[in-house]
Amino acid sequence: MQLAGRKIILAVTGSIAAYKTPELVRQLIKAGAEVRVIMTSAAGEFVSPLALSTVSKHPVYANVNDGAAWNNHVEMGRWADVMLVAPCSANTLAKLAHGLCDNLVCAVYLSATCPVLVAPAMDEDMWMHPATKKNIETLRTNGNSIIPVAHGELASGLVGEGRMAEPADIVSYVAGFLSANNGRLAGKKALVTAGPTYERIDPVRFIGNFSTGKMGVAIAEALAAEGADVTLVLGPSNVDVAKNGINLVRVESAQEMYDASANAFKSADIAVMSAAVADYKPAEVADKKIKKQNEPLDIKLEKTTDILKELGTVKKSGQLLVGFALETDNEVANARKKLETKNADLIVLNSLQDKGAGFGHDTNKVTFVGKDDKLKELPLLSKADVAKEIVNHIAEQLNA
Ligand code: CTP
Repeated sequence: MQLAGRKIILAVTGSIAAYKTPELVRQLIKAGAEVRVIMTSAAGEFVSPLALSTVSKHPVYANVNDGAAWNNHVEMGRWADVMLVAPCSANTLAKLAHGLCDNLVCAVYLSATCPVLVAPAMDEDMWMHPATKKNIETLRTNGNSIIPVAHGELASGLVGEGRMAEPADIVSYVAGFLSANNGRLAGKKALVTAGPTYERIDPVRFIGNFSTGKMGVAIAEALAAEGADVTLVLGPSNVDVAKNGINLVRVESAQEMYDASANAFKSADIAVMSAAVADYKPAEVADKKIKKQNEPLDIKLEKTTDILKELGTVKKSGQLLVGFALETDNEVANARKKLETKNADLIVLNSLQDKGAGFGHDTNKVTFVGKDDKLKELPLLSKADVAKEIVNHIAEQLNA
């Protein structure tokens, strides 16, 4: 998913190409983005707000006063990672270039703190007009990016330049723009472990745990979204993984996870160990299915390799190592101990006492336990937001 976790404001304006925007929204969401739609009243002549709110799963706003909860244009521009004006009519293009503010799209544009991408759509003669050319130049000078128009059949029946880029091309443009421009970790290599491990008892049974891998996958995606080249070593998990910027290595056991991680760590700048690795494995794996007997069954367990600790031992200066701790009591003291004994730079502490935190949930509540003795306690957040906070912390540490 090229746009995993990205927040996009789509501003739809009055051009016939607006009929393609429900498909554009669908493709942006399919690429992992969260999309909120605003529109001008002229856009409503070409596409129905109901269609756009249905595909975006959020209300669509056209007036500065629309909506009880989400009506603040400043908030909209701050919420988004990117504002996409598609299609951008000749009229809106002129208004944005000159700073007019007579509708919600213009108000959000003027207050947006995020980058703005503009996908113009108009007839060829309008597109070629010197006034439009000047407006395009002004928008560029003001720091906006223009998504190239396409050549082809136009609504007037003429064939020429001015068509809005196709939805798939717009999605690729947005993804390419975000990874090239927002990559605080561009050029960095990251290793993430995630999910449970399964330790085989016999050909049909294993020792495992309830980890789903959601947290680690979210971290891998957040690192990739910041431009890092990520190797995700993932135990048995059904979570979908974004393809963009993530090299996925699937493993089953703690030993396989260790082998893959030790290899990737050699060239990594960042390592985040979020996997719930089994601490013990059967000392022997039966090669045939163990049959039921009348006597109790004893399975001798031996310790697995502690991956975090091993990486801590070989860590070189400049490498940043992050571990997790899942605790039920003496949380902070135990996390501090892990930080020290495993030579980590940060421990992300999960407490099972917090409602909505831990295995299986879509939310998590964590505390950062760092080397400086300071604690940073985060509120209950979605796992995607916890991942972003962890990645922010990593980016700050690396650039400090
Ligand atoms: N970890 C690991 N390899 C293991 C066990 C744990 O890499 N074999 C990592 C986890 O990914 C996590 C951290 O170590 O980042 C803490 O794991 P946890 O199981 O909480 O700690 P343990 O050291 O195993 O201690 P305990 O189970 O006694 O709390």
